[in-house]
Amino acid sequence: MKKIAVFTSGGDSPGMNACIRAVVRTGIKMGAEVVGIRCGYEGMIEADFVPLDSQAVSGIIQQGGTILQTARCARFRTPEGRRMAYDQLMKAGIEGVVAIGGDGTFTGAHVFSQEYDFPFVGTPGTIDNDLFGTDYTIGYDTAINTAMAAIDNIRDTANAHNRLFIVEVMGRDAGFIALRSGIASGAEAVLIPESTSDTQHLLEILSRNEAMRKRANIIVVAEGDEEGGAFQLAKTIRERFPIFETKVTILGHVQRGGRPTCSERVLASRLGMEAVKALLDGRRNVMIGQVHKDITYIPFEQAIKHHQRVNPGLLEMVEMLC
Ligand code: F6P
Repeated sequence: MKKIAVFTSGGDSPGMNACIRAVVRTGIKMGAEVVGIRCGYEGMIEADFVPLDSQAVSGIIQQGGTILQTARCARFRTPEGRRMAYDQLMKAGIEGVVAIGGDGTFTGAHVFSQEYDFPFVGTPGTIDNDLFGTDYTIGYDTAINTAMAAIDNIRDTANAHNRLFIVEVMGRDAGFIALRSGIASGAEAVLIPESTSDTQHLLEILSRNEAMRKRANIIVVAEGDEEGGAFQLAKTIRERFPIFETKVTILGHVQRGGRPTCSERVLASRLGMEAVKALLDGRRNVMIGQVHKDITYIPFEQAIKHHQRVNPGLLEMVEMLC
């Protein structure tokens, strides 16, 4: 392969830039020309290609966001959009692509690979950590640290006022961010979609805490929890325990930005490097992950079909410690 491309797609996540840098530098060292595709699949359709040399990715390892920008592209979901994308790749002489993204990105790559004989390799870039075949996705470590720091701040004011805070964190339909940030910030309860009995348990905890006159409480809830999020939960709690002064904080997109942590930069760099090696080695339509310390090659179909399972040990910790 003489010319490869790299792009970021879906929700941005801290560490994407470190991954882009690794793809570019590994590609060049292995003798390939590397181009960036701007704004995900949209840029592929529009031939928004930019040549990337080693200098172009200098000083980006510490930056959040993505220098290539990103998008959620509706057109790539249509056969016409994918046809246009394929034609543009052919016209530009691009022989293989590294896709950095999550579930939606790999679903697109999987469909594309069934229609066209074109090599894609992916690296998992999402704060949600919801892909099968990797212990951690690029962005997750930074997001949980950002969430933890924010919850620590909320704890100060919760204690100062004796208030109950419900903090909603991201994660789409997965509870990984809630689980880790909740445990790490000593939350009184954590509610996640993977565990359906937690609301009842929460009410028991609050009842017990009220009996002890402990009114400063932090409840971390995943946005995808079946209870319907923080405001719905606040309504339930206010009805049942009007004595608690209940406040809601939605952390939102603050969790998506920021400087990647050290682990994030190393993981993203390793996965980016391995993605290029895999692509130039002839692998195709696989996501590169890391399980324990080993590199994994997971077919896109599997990465998106089977969600990573929540560690039962962490659920037990919530039970025991919260
Ligand atoms: O997939 C990452 C994520 O931040 C989810 O946690 C969240 O549900 C979603 O993206 C938000 O997407 P958007 O930024 O498009 O509103």
